[in-house]
Amino acid sequence: MMKNLEISRVVQTRYGSFAEAAGRAATSCCSKPPTSSCCAPRQALYDESELALVPELARNLSRGCGNPTHFAKLQPGEVVVDFGCGGGTDLILAAHKVGERGKVIGIDFAQQMIEQAKEAVAQAGLHDEMIELRHASLDNTALANACADVLISNCVINLCPDKDAVYLEAFRILKPGGRLAISDILLTEPIAADLRNRFQSISAGCIGGAIPEDDYLRTLKNAGFVAVLIVSRHPLVGVELDDMARCPGEEYTPAPLSKDLDQVRGKVESVKFTAIKPS
Ligand SMILES: C[S@@+](CC[C@H](N)C(=O)[O-])C[C@H]1O[C@@H](n2cnc3c(N)ncnc32)[C@H](O)[C@@H]1O
Repeated sequence: MMKNLEISRVVQTRYGSFAEAAGRAATSCCSKPPTSSCCAPRQALYDESELALVPELARNLSRGCGNPTHFAKLQPGEVVVDFGCGGGTDLILAAHKVGERGKVIGIDFAQQMIEQAKEAVAQAGLHDEMIELRHASLDNTALANACADVLISNCVINLCPDKDAVYLEAFRILKPGGRLAISDILLTEPIAADLRNRFQSISAGCIGGAIPEDDYLRTLKNAGFVAVLIVSRHPLVGVELDDMARCPGEEYTPAPLSKDLDQVRGKVESVKFTAIKPS
């Protein structure tokens, strides 16, 4: 069984290599035709008016499973933190919503991803005072206590082996009354330990790290969050499930055994929810 540190290192290395390759169009999976399973479903998460605000670099790096700025109800002047910002799509959309008086802080532990997000933010014509990018792990962001109004995250916390630590950190940095708007991958029911271990050791990815919804909700509650509201849920079927098992792309993550994939079919969901840090 892989240890937490080992899992985090594999995830960090894979997303780092993926970010690096995005600078070289020929090896980016999104250089493939738009029907490619690797790109099309994610691009469909955003509408045309949103995509028009996001440079191609960030769009190519987008590996979310939802669109948190759609349901975060962001207001002008708010401070937003994006946990696992990747190439910056949600950062850019959030910055347009909070405006010049607001601020958006993106955190990612893949240095190459931070570099690409900085480039994407510059290409989007947004300045440094509006979007700050930090290279850090989500369980130890070094952000000040109670500095944020809203914390968004898109398809990231499933990858974190210590979800308790990540949600405690989220709770710490939110202001009293602050809120979460999260899109993540969860399981509808527990899966056998050996199956989970195989997903974890082969792909160290979104399915290996996904936990049952009940356990996930307990983690939120233990961290102190209240009023958890499931905004929507979407079962991953067909190519979406295969794609998620090999995130960020087939060049980076080995294929799980097809018999293992068959065993999780119908048990993996993309869930969008909000929750509150009590005042
Ligand atoms: C599936 S991608 C999603 C990126 C982005 N949110 C999006 O929607 O495109 C996951 C991102 O989370 C980052 N990540 C995963 N675990 C992390 C951790 N423990 N600390 C910081 N970043 C992490 C990865 O480096 C990667 O950029």
